[in-house]
Parts: sequence; structure tokens; C-alpha cells
Amino acid sequence: MLGRIKPLDAILATAEKKSLHRSLGWFQLTLLGIGSVIGTGIFVLTSAGAQKAGPGLMLAFAIAGAICVVAALCYAEIASMIPVAGSAYTYSYATIGELLAWTVGWALIMEYAIAAAAVSVGWSGYFTGTILHGFLHIDLPAALEAGPLALGGAAGGVINLPAFVIALLVTGLLIVGTSESAKVNAALVVIKIVALTAFVALTYTSPSFSADKFNPFLPAGVFGGFGTGVGAVGAAATIFFAYVGFDSVSTAAEETKNPQRNVPIGLIGSLLICTVFYILVAGGAIATIGGQPIMGPDGVPFPAGSEELARQCAMPEHAQALVCSNEALAHVLRTIGFSGVGNLLGIAAFLALPSVILVLLFGQTRIFFVMSRDGLLPEVLSKVHPRFKTPHIVTAITGGLVAIGAAFFPVGQLADISNAGTLYAFMMVAIALLVLRRTDPARKRHFRVPFVWFVAPLTIVGCVFLFFNLPMQAMLFLPIWGVIGLAIYFGYSRAHSNLARGIVDVPELDPDAPPVAAAPLPGIPVPGEADE
Ligand code: ALA
Repeated sequence: MLGRIKPLDAILATAEKKSLHRSLGWFQLTLLGIGSVIGTGIFVLTSAGAQKAGPGLMLAFAIAGAICVVAALCYAEIASMIPVAGSAYTYSYATIGELLAWTVGWALIMEYAIAAAAVSVGWSGYFTGTILHGFLHIDLPAALEAGPLALGGAAGGVINLPAFVIALLVTGLLIVGTSESAKVNAALVVIKIVALTAFVALTYTSPSFSADKFNPFLPAGVFGGFGTGVGAVGAAATIFFAYVGFDSVSTAAEETKNPQRNVPIGLIGSLLICTVFYILVAGGAIATIGGQPIMGPDGVPFPAGSEELARQCAMPEHAQALVCSNEALAHVLRTIGFSGVGNLLGIAAFLALPSVILVLLFGQTRIFFVMSRDGLLPEVLSKVHPRFKTPHIVTAITGGLVAIGAAFFPVGQLADISNAGTLYAFMMVAIALLVLRRTDPARKRHFRVPFVWFVAPLTIVGCVFLFFNLPMQAMLFLPIWGVIGLAIYFGYSRAHSNLARGIVDVPELDPDAPPVAAAPLPGIPVPGEADE
């Protein structure tokens, strides 16, 4: 009923042929996880989260973190069985069939490409605020600083030029084959951790710190109402974005020593570290400058990213409000008297966020690439540049679209849409895991989820729950995107599928192919250049 299933043995045969040197330990995996996870979510979306939940943002970080932990366990088991490129798309192809795998691949475009656009917009806030305005004393015309719908009182926004440019620059780096080295990743992780630690230390010891600011803790309630995206769970659905990217750890299972032990430590360890930081940072921000939402006349917070909120933010009484800032964390430090450290934090975000864009864009191009090699997308997409050995065509198309998204849409809306796709993909991974437990119980698993019949259903329920707490537009995006995807599947992919044509294991033998299964992920040391 589910249609064509790509034989798992064919997938594994590929990995076997190009099996990777097992060089990674739990420490490198944890660094990899933190490197891909900490980004726009905490540095920027803290404002949108506070606008949705007020101090309940702390609860929101805990809810989203908990759902990611159970999803991460599912990823860990399935990645340890199917340690090849393509992530959730490949796992689904091997278990629940081509049609559903196509929908997962299609949803992963929402996860990776739209997330890359969101992080580009987040970076732009720090670039224009800290670097251009703060250091160079240059103010971009409002028309070039933000897209037409953007938050932050940027009336007259037409295009977010910095976000557009950074997305294209990162695309260029990927085309010439830059994959971030392990050392650069480690340095950026240190920068991010130092910045967040300084933030926590300064806010919690500041004279401005007052527990009274947590009151009321849940100004918009726990459930803000279906489709509104507000309340603590509405905020959880948005700041779920702050955890996206941990799946890069699971895709490194094939390169890990003792994956049974190290993959779950890397996944859960990086998620727990991020969760603790996020809750502490949210607490520090709110307890110092306050984080109550700006309420509409009906007693419901104005939607984050809306024109109404932008109008409110332009009023002098809201000039200092956390919920109005495009550089949430730097803004908090500046407001409580640490301008210098606030600027340093701004520089940390300016330096570190492009690597998150790089990881996300890299993931996106590799998923397109694998789908194209499976015949589901036109072959031209898997063409490899003769000199750079990278899939340049798909990278250029993806990067161009990401840059356009970044130029015209606000960060919060992009993050919500990305979350919708990600939640779908996580749910399908949990389903694929249960299917594999039933259909292939004997196959070796380097890591087994404990209490799988509890953990996997909990993941499914958690993802569905968060999905239905997204704002309506983001929720609707998924089925609309899905219909477009199905039209392409039935109009093109179904007939062109390699599996349908009886070609299963050919492309991986192509000597000119970029090293997909064997690709060192950004931030992962390749054998020989590994960190000791
Ligand atoms: N988790 C990543 C971020 O917050 C995508 O930027």
C-alpha cells in the first residue's frame, strides 16, 4: 500500500563501499551538535518568544527541549542503522516507501532552506545593529534594512539587503567546496558558549535583576488558542527553532567510534547543554529588562512580526522593550549598562551565525542531491562541478531561493514555517523507527532506544502537539507545500524514480560524484586532519 520501498540492504551496501573512518568521540559530537544548534533561535527569537509567552518563555524552552530529546533518541537509533546521507528522507525511503519519503524530503526543504533564510535574517539584525550602526556609524536606509513585513519598527522596509548578501556569500563558499573545519567549528562553539555564559553571569548579578519581573509568569496563558501561536506552548512551537540542527549529530553515526554510547551522548548532551543555557538566558533577559508582551486591545499579545506590533514598537514607551529588539541579547546587556560586552556579544553572533547558515544550506543541498540521484528530481541537480567537486547547480539554485526568502520575510515567520516542516520530518522518523522495529527486528542497531514503544509515540504526539500550536499561517504552509510536492511527485518523480526503473545502486559508483555518503559534515574532522 505504501508503494516502493528502497531495500535497506542496497542503501547499506553503498555505505559499506564507502565506509568512513570512525574517528569521532562523544566530545566532538557534542561540539558538532552545539555548533549547529545555537544560533538565531536564542540570539534573536528570544524577542518573539517573549512576545508570545512573556516570562513563560522559560517554560517554552523546557517544553521544546524535552520534545527534541525524545526525537533525538529516535534519530540516534535509526541513524546508527542507516548511517548514510539524506537523513530523514533516506530513513523513510527504506521503511515507509517512496511516496512518504518524497513528502519527508519535500518537508525537509522547509526545515533546512527556510531555516537558513531565517538565520540569515537573524544575522542581519546583529550586522546592522552592532557592526554597521555600533562600530562603523553607518545607518542603512530603512528600505534596505528589512523586508516589507519585518518587525522592529522598520517602517518602509523593502528588502533585507544584508540577509540577502550573507545567504549568497555562504552559497558561494559551499560552491567552491568550503566545508567548515572541525577547528573552526570548535572555535565558534567556544565563542557562543562564552557569549552566553557572560550574558548569564552579568544578568544574574546585575542590580536590575528582580524576580518581580517574572510576574505575571504566564500573561498569555499556557494555551493561547488554536492558530494564534501565543501562550507558553505557542512560544514553544516557535523557539523549537532554537534546537533545530541537532540531527547533524545523528548523521555522523557512521564516523563515530563506539556509536552505541557516543551518538546518544552527543545528541542528548548537546541538547541538554543548549536547553540549560536557553532557560538561563531567557530568565536573565526577563528578570533584568522585563519580558512582558505588548498586549492588543483584546488582552491577547499582538502577533510577533505583525505590523501592529511594529507600530507599537516604534512608540517611545516601548523603545527598550525586549519584545521589540532585533538583537535581543545584545540589547539586554546594553540596557543594563554593559554596552561594551553587549557589543562583544553582537560580534559573537555576527561571527557565529554564518556557520549555522552553512550547516543548514549544506544539509539542504545534500538532500536535494540524494533525491536527484534517486531519480525523484531532475538529474541536472546532481551534476558535479568539474573543478570544485561540489553539486554546484543545486547549491546555486537553493542558495538563490534562500537569499530571496531572507530578503523579504521576517525571521519569526520563516522560523515558524521551518518548524512546521521539521516537526513533520521528526514525526516521520519516529514512525519509521517503529516500522523498522516490526519489519526488521533482527538487524544490528548500534544504538537502541530504551522503552521505544513509549519514546517513539511520545515523539509523535509531541511533534503533532507543537505543530498545532504554531500560528495558523505556518500550519497552513505545510499542506499547501505538500500539495505542490505531490503534484511534482505524480507529474515527474514517480515515473523517473530509479527504483521504478530498476536502477538501485548505480549512482554511488559514479567516481565523479561528490562524497555524499562519505562527506565529512561541516565541523567534522576528516581522517588525517582530525583533531586529536
Ligand atoms: N537552531 C538553529 C538556530 O537557532 C537553527 O539558529
